[in-house]
Amino acid sequence: MRRCWAEPFKIKMVEPIRTTSLAERQRALGAAGFNTFLLRSEDVYIDLLTDSGTSAMSDRQWAAMMLGDEAYAGSANYYHLEQAVHRFYGFKHLIPTHQGRGAEHLLSRILIKPGDIVPGNMYFTTTKAHQELAGGRFHDVIIDEAHDPESEHPFKGNVDLDKLESLIRAAGASRIPYLSLELNVNMAGGQPCSMENIRASSELCHRHDIKVYLDATRAIENAWFIKQRERGYADRSVASILLEICTHADGATISSKKDHLVNIGGMLLTNDDELADEARNLGVLFEGLHTYGGLAGRDLEAIAVGIAEAVQDDHMHARIGQVEYLADRLLAAGIPIVRPTGGHGVFIDARRFLPHVPQQQFPAQALAAEIYLDSGVRSMERGAVSAGRHPDTGENIMPRLELVRLAIPRRVYTQAHMDVTCESIASIYDERRRIHGLRMVCEPKRLRFFQARFEPLRDAGSLCIASRRPDGAASSNPS
Ligand code: F0G
Repeated sequence: MRRCWAEPFKIKMVEPIRTTSLAERQRALGAAGFNTFLLRSEDVYIDLLTDSGTSAMSDRQWAAMMLGDEAYAGSANYYHLEQAVHRFYGFKHLIPTHQGRGAEHLLSRILIKPGDIVPGNMYFTTTKAHQELAGGRFHDVIIDEAHDPESEHPFKGNVDLDKLESLIRAAGASRIPYLSLELNVNMAGGQPCSMENIRASSELCHRHDIKVYLDATRAIENAWFIKQRERGYADRSVASILLEICTHADGATISSKKDHLVNIGGMLLTNDDELADEARNLGVLFEGLHTYGGLAGRDLEAIAVGIAEAVQDDHMHARIGQVEYLADRLLAAGIPIVRPTGGHGVFIDARRFLPHVPQQQFPAQALAAEIYLDSGVRSMERGAVSAGRHPDTGENIMPRLELVRLAIPRRVYTQAHMDVTCESIASIYDERRRIHGLRMVCEPKRLRFFQARFEPLRDAGSLCIASRRPDGAASSNPS
């Protein structure tokens, strides 16, 4: 018989959360322009907007914060973090940054010349924006299966080596500064790359003198999937798999706000002495001196402890296990989600959930709004709004994946929170025909999904299924 598992921790401190009435949620959503990013968190019941910076730190991390050495230069905490990075990632140089996009900015500025092309296995919003800001163009080389939410391919984050090779042939290796290789690809649904593919992509690039930089933000979760799914790795520790992944790359950018179990921080890692010097120098302008990079000493110390906790197999088992628990419940309720279940959350396929809403009317954005109205659960659009506009033509990009992401913060919510979330979505699914699309009425120039505002295409009441229920309130969050 398959035995249950449980989290490898117990809860020492709790943070109250507030339930709200339907009328309060309607008011809050209207004020937020139907964009869940613009809600106040005090109006949210279960916050699945992101797994970024939302982890619960351990008692050891909080204790480590008391050991902050707040020296402007040469803080002891920097050297502790450097030791952790050497031990668990193996790269030679550490340049701390305030968060992941700080590292992306430095790397893009140093390596990309105007007109360059940067291949990547699907895009991430901030990564692509920094590549474009530096004058480059992103080119997608992920396997086709990644764009198909129903494909059961176990490594949907993989690079399509033929696509990469054709690009090198067509553009010329000198126009390609590096391969941007994201692990556990966020926009594809938290989908991993196999070790075999990481190795082969790296060999192909290095044969052409093209560097390989990982987006290792969720590399530890990727290592867990390699252990689960790739032949030869079942008996290996997550930590040893992580180290092996990193041997194939020249460096990495990391947002510590995910895998590393902290609320802020990031880093650029590299084996390249020259690039490290340049990044340390440029970092002074944008981040802070190279031994703190925009972070307090206490933050550096919490990251060092967080990395050591994150690579524990039992932590990863519970972390991914909770995501799988929610996914399995949603599947049992017939909800169309991206398969196989990914690492940091469950992604609802809004195209199949709302087949009657055309993509120009932002079905994923409308569904995220509806889920909030129903139960106060906050999710995020990952579809046409996030994809933005084409940098040359200005046309809206219409990606094949039109998703609502339920990202699960690490060590924060219980199984009961997952049950409430599932019940809310299942009840909306029963009445999905009543959901209408949205019109964008305010569109910021950059990364528009953060601050865009919308209006319902029909009156707001028609968007809100919950208001049509006899009790006029959400089933799962009565108040
Ligand atoms: N790379 C990936 C794969 C990410 O998911 C993120 C952030 C970043 C880079 C940028 O890091 O936020 O520390 O500057 N993702 C968040 C999310 C915002 O919700 O997925 P950052």
